[in-house]
Parts: sequence; structure tokens; C-alpha cells
Amino acid sequence: MRNGDSAVDSTAISLVRTTFKAVAAIEDGPARLTQSFYSVLFANNPDVREFFPAAMEAQRERLVHAIAYVIDQLDDPEPVLLFLAQLGRDHRKYGVVDAHYTAVGNALIFALKNFAGNEMWTDEVDNAWREAIALIASVMMEAANAEDGPATWTGTVVEHKQVLQDVAVVRLQLDRPMEYGAGQYVSVTVPGRPRMWRYLSPAIPANPEGQIEFHVRRVSGGWVSPAMVGQTNLGDTWLMGSPLGALGVDRTRNRDMLMIGSGTGIAPLRAQLMEMAMRANNPNVHVFVGGNYPCDLYDIETLWQLSLTNPWLTVVPVSEEDTNPWWHLDPIPTPPAGMYKRITGKVSAVAAEFGDWSNHDVQIVGSASTIQTAKFRLQAKGVPVENMRHDPLY
Ligand SMILES: Cc1cc2nc3c(=O)[nH]c(=O)nc-3n(C[C@H](O)[C@H](O)[C@H](O)COP(=O)(O)OP(=O)(O)OC[C@H]3O[C@@H](n4cnc5c(N)ncnc54)[C@H](O)[C@@H]3O)c2cc1C
Ligand code: HEM
Repeated sequence: MRNGDSAVDSTAISLVRTTFKAVAAIEDGPARLTQSFYSVLFANNPDVREFFPAAMEAQRERLVHAIAYVIDQLDDPEPVLLFLAQLGRDHRKYGVVDAHYTAVGNALIFALKNFAGNEMWTDEVDNAWREAIALIASVMMEAANAEDGPATWTGTVVEHKQVLQDVAVVRLQLDRPMEYGAGQYVSVTVPGRPRMWRYLSPAIPANPEGQIEFHVRRVSGGWVSPAMVGQTNLGDTWLMGSPLGALGVDRTRNRDMLMIGSGTGIAPLRAQLMEMAMRANNPNVHVFVGGNYPCDLYDIETLWQLSLTNPWLTVVPVSEEDTNPWWHLDPIPTPPAGMYKRITGKVSAVAAEFGDWSNHDVQIVGSASTIQTAKFRLQAKGVPVENMRHDPLY
């Protein structure tokens, strides 16, 4: 992997991977490594503690997961470098400066060395890790230092609509427009949940008026999403970081597209479809929209409307159950003439069986298990894994 003059050679990459895998294979390895990393980081750099939320149980593994993700992808530098540059720009929201990267790198090496033991942690391994971390940090720092746009945006809630018992559509007016690509996501904090950043995907394309819309599902037992869905008031202000992610229409590839979205995973797909609808030429797109119950397809009418006026777009609704739960009283919407009727089944299975997608660009959005199942099923049907894209799984 190469960035400017620095590079990590293939021997170093394999040493880094081997040690990381060995540590991950120890019982509770990743969790214990994370704990030890944060203990060392906070003990040696008490000022850094205040960047992190008071309660860190739920998401403390994210930083270490990201490093694992990067290490896993080191052979394919382009997407990793893009990911790290975005992450670096986004990390400006914490107030991170260059010196913090040294502190994080040292804490990680200390924790890893402690776990790997002297036998595995040779000088060569030590050098390989230092090179890898230096490169990761330099890409993040360079991108952050080169960015002169705002580190955060403030959005004022102008509409909050509960479209399902556990899903809300929230519209906000930003203090200044944000130039995100349709399909990207941003990290968000809400009042009452300080420093607890969560990712949300805008459901409409960026616009010069600075309007933004999110679809949020309440995760039961979650720290932040229940507040977003159940305790949001008009006039509340949400804070947002820089855009992240690489989902989008790749017009250089000139391929038709398959999109699979389940639940609020429809948001980044909808933003892309809306943006495509503003252009004259588009690839053909099949979008499969999934949920447990028919009512979980809360946005199907918008997609049908888009499809009615855009012949390149085919919408296939899918739900695991054929009827709504008894407490949901609204009738199941009927598709307009010429549109596919809802199919009963799991969205990944229905999409995989529906046609030949081996030459399509594929995007999958939803929970980690939806993404993994869809990838597995599509691969079994001959779709090359390099044609499938999804956001990083944390
Ligand atoms: C790239 C990306 C884009 C995202 N976009 C959206 C979006 O547009 N709309 C949206 O509603 N959410 C989205 N999410 C999920 C969101 O960022 C939060 O993870 C989610 O809202 C849970 O946060 P929480 O604080 O309520 O739960 P936490 O307090 O973080 O977690 C509580 C518990 O719930 C589990 N958990 C976390 N998330 C889920 C989940 N999705 N399903 C089941 N269990 C879970 C955790 O493992 C933990 O055990 C996105 C996530 C990613 C990675
Ligand atoms: C070494 C390279 C680093 C990588 C790959 C990395 C990666 C990540 C990722 C992926 C997340 C979760 C998503 C997010 O909120 O953006 C995260 C969170 C965070 N990172 Fe970093 N990071 C790095 C360095 C740093 C440094 C130097 C600091 C400053 C001390 C820092 C502080 C934080 C904080 C405060 C969070 C929020 C954690 C939480 O919500 O629990 N990170 N990091």
C-alpha cells in the first residue's frame, strides 16, 4: 500500500495481518485488546479521554475494528486510502490533532505487543506495525490538514414524522450546505447524547438550500437511535461530521445496477435514485426493497412514483411476512399498474433468484447480516465479489 513516498511492502503487510489474526484468535481477543488499548491510551494521555463518550461499552470496538478493516484491505490500496482520507476529515469533529495519532499508534502497539508476547513480537513485526500505523495516520492527518471546509454542520429539525412505530423520518435545515455524494453517510450527534456519534445516511441528494433528511430506525436497547426516533422535537439541533462512504453510481463502468436495501437501508439508495432522476442518461436499475412486514416498506410509494416517471428504474418490493402485524392498521398499498407486486421472502434470496446479475454493479445496504447473506447468495449465483459494494461493517 502506497501513499506519496511512503509504502508498506507485502512482507510487512503479511506480518501485520498474521499478528492481528493471532491476537483475534485468543479467547475474547478483540474485546480484550480494545480494552487494553483504551486503558493505555487514557492512562498515558488523560486529555484524550474527553473526546470519547462517557459510556463506551457499545462502540468502544469501532476504532480497533476500523484498523482491522484497513489491515484486511491493505492489498487494494485505492478504496482504503479513500476511506482513511474521509475518516481523517471526519475526525476533525473530535478536535483531534496530529500528536494524538502518535498517542493512538503507541497505545495500539503497546496493547498488541502485550497480547502477542515476546516470541511473536519480533523486531521485524514491531517495524511492520509501526510502518502500517504511520501510513494510516499520515493519510488521515494529510486529508484532515488539507481540508478547509467546516469540521461540523449544525442541523435544525424542521420536521419529525413517525412513519412506523420504530422508524422516524427527520428533516433538518443545515446552517450551511453540505456537499455529500448521494449514497454517502455522515456521523450525527443529538441533544442529550453528548459525544455519541452515530452514522446516518441522507435520504435525499445534497442541495444548495442545505436541506437534509434521515430515516432512523429505533434499535431497542440502543443509546442513541431511541432518542432520535422518540425524543426529537422541532427546533432541536443535531451536529454532523464530514461525509463518508463510497456508494454512488460509477458512470465510468457503464453497467446496469442492482440495488438491495432493507429497512432504513433504503435511504442512501433513494438519494441516489433521486439524483439519477435529475439526469438525462442513466443505467437500468433494479431496486429490491425488503422488510419483515409489508408495512416495513414505508417508503415504497416514493419509489413507485420515481419508477413511473423514470423507465430505467424497476422496483421490486419484498417482505418476509405476507400480512402486517395486528397493531398496524393502515392498508397495504397496491402497486400502480405495470409495477411488480410484493414478493414474499427474504430480500437477499428473492433478489439473487430473480435474474442474472453477473454483469451488474451491485449495492447492498442494510444490517450486517443482510449484507453478508446477500453477498453470499449473489456470489453463489455467479456475481463477482468485486462488483458488489457496501459500506464498511462496524
Ligand atoms: C454506514 C452506516 C450507515 C447507517 N445509516 C443508518 C440510517 O440511515 N438509519 C438508521 O436508522 N441507522 C443507520 N445506521 C445505524 C446507526 O448508525 C446506529 O448504529 C444505530 O442507530 C444504533 O445506534 P444506537 O446508539 O441506538 O445503538 P447502540 O447503543 O450503538 O447499540 C446498542 C446495541 O444494539 C446493537 N445494534 C446496533 N445497531 C444495530 C442494528 N442496526 N440492528 C440491530 N442491532 C443493532 C449493538 O450491537 C448493541 O448491542 C448506519 C450504520 C452504518 C455503519
Ligand atoms: C490511527 C488511526 C485511526 C483510525 C483508523 C480511527 C478510526 C476510527 C473509527 C472508524 C471510528 C468510529 C467511527 C467514527 O466516529 O468516526 C473512530 C472513532 C473515534 N476515534 Fe478514531 N481513528 C484513528 C485515530 C484516532 C485518534 C488519533 C483519535 C484521537 C485521540 C481518535 C479519536 C476517536 C474518537 C473520540 C472516536 C469516537 C469513539 C466513540 O464514539 O466511541 N481516533 N475512530
